[in-house]
Amino acid sequence: MSGAEISVVRMADDRDRETIYRMRHEVYAAELGQHSPNAAGRLTDALDAFNHYIVIADGERIVGFVSITPPGGPSYSIDKYFKRTELPFAVDDKLYEIRLLTVPQSSRSRLLASALMYAAFRWIEARGGTHIAAIGRKEIRSIHLRVGLKPTGQDVQSGAVTYGLLHGTMAEIHAALPGVRPILDRVQAEMSWQIGVAYDTPTACYHGGKFFEAVGDEFQTLERLDTIIAADVLDAWFPPSPKAVAALEKNLPQLLRTSPPTGCEGLVRTIARVRGVQSENILPGAGSSDLIFLALRHWLTAASRVLILDPTYGEYAHVLERVIRCRVNRLPLLRGENYRVDLSRLNQALTGGYDLVVLVNPNNPTGQHIPRAELEAALKKVSPATRVWVDETYIEYAGSGESLEQFAARSENVIVCKSMSKVYALSGARVAYLGAGPAHAAVGREPAEPGGCRRGVAGRGILCRAPSRDARPAHGTGCGIAEAELARHSRHGEFSPVPSARNRPRRRHGDCPLPRTRTIPARCRQAGHRPRRPRAPHCRERRRHQPAHD
Ligand SMILES: Cc1ncc(COP(=O)(O)O)c(C=O)c1O
Repeated sequence: MSGAEISVVRMADDRDRETIYRMRHEVYAAELGQHSPNAAGRLTDALDAFNHYIVIADGERIVGFVSITPPGGPSYSIDKYFKRTELPFAVDDKLYEIRLLTVPQSSRSRLLASALMYAAFRWIEARGGTHIAAIGRKEIRSIHLRVGLKPTGQDVQSGAVTYGLLHGTMAEIHAALPGVRPILDRVQAEMSWQIGVAYDTPTACYHGGKFFEAVGDEFQTLERLDTIIAADVLDAWFPPSPKAVAALEKNLPQLLRTSPPTGCEGLVRTIARVRGVQSENILPGAGSSDLIFLALRHWLTAASRVLILDPTYGEYAHVLERVIRCRVNRLPLLRGENYRVDLSRLNQALTGGYDLVVLVNPNNPTGQHIPRAELEAALKKVSPATRVWVDETYIEYAGSGESLEQFAARSENVIVCKSMSKVYALSGARVAYLGAGPAHAAVGREPAEPGGCRRGVAGRGILCRAPSRDARPAHGTGCGIAEAELARHSRHGEFSPVPSARNRPRRRHGDCPLPRTRTIPARCRQAGHRPRRPRAPHCRERRRHQPAHD
């Protein structure tokens, strides 16, 4: 490879195929003795009519390839060696087979082999494959194992070569990928990825959308609306303002047939006016989840250092550690201190040279609130090089005048994230905004898409016409489970009420057996309560030591 050239990972074309068949002969006949050498000097078989090949090429030269057999063909290569009834996995229409992982002697390297395996995995994953079978030479088994495939224990001899059968589900492969992350990062940095699917598995928001698992994402069982409990973290647990509903109902046909204002200018002006800041301090978004993904990915890289509270709203750890993959430190909040944020520890941590500090205030799930005056005093001392993101999704629960919006508008490094979901019960409308100095409030203010669909949701005028404080739940009534009931449960060690700005029950963790999350609504119902907002069932896959939270 010439110095300027970069290895390209791509799908093989017809011309490459001839090279591949010759390389197969070179490796599997001449070098390894699996097949007898033939006069044509090429090896191909019936599966090549269905197989796809991924190659790595240095300019014109192919330096490695791997073959993928998709479902729907007449057979897999494993059918040559094993009866389907002997296989410890189902052969279904989601099974793909990887075979012929080949890097010729002259270019042999762990990086090339790993790049090919990962490329095959991503290509299969993007096509909806749910599990992978692989037939691999015993000598290179470690490469298969590293990416999460597991030997089935079934080996087979073919000529002079011993092959082993391996299998892995997408979940098993995902679980193994952190172990090969340094190699994958090198592949991403050093090679040009051209297989037509994103390098990383696209990551959805960690939260949201659970409701539709119950009614069906094609609204198949809308009648279940009456019986299911909206349990998604993003859903509001009290109805929106009747004024908002009336405004929508009145204008619905018009809203449906016209495109929304592209830049949400009216909404921005309204928020600015009501909050006492300028329009240039406001960036609207389709829910704060949208803004979290937009801004954090814009400002941070894998080399960034971030501080978050622990426990705190799980979307932050997800975006930072799993999407951006930056370094995250945690400021532990202690049970013995009712999870209060200790200001002297926070002040100390704020001097830690972080690129970003995330403070959810009041915090979710602890409900603890740092009063505005104290937080502003602490933030004034923070180096301008450290951005501070204050998530005020629940700030109205702490009382009026507690928001840092005006402070953030004047500051160079403080960004306030406000959601309309939990205060106005507009979760379904996806409305939120960032309040910040003009430079930060301009993040991602790229030309809007035609029709302004992203921010347009917010700009639809819903709020311009009806942001009424009567939508706000009375302080302390958000959860709907009476404190007495909590106290009763806490006698059994199940719940442990923590006084806070948000009256969420907290399940105790670690020192007592936990009831299953899904039993909580049932128990509350038995006790005559109508819980509206149990913890989201999908929040359980947290780090084990972290208290359960949403
Ligand atoms: C602290 C916090 N921030 C942000 C969100 C997301 O809200 P939305 O995307 O609906 O604005 C939530 C939802 O539970 C939350 O608890």
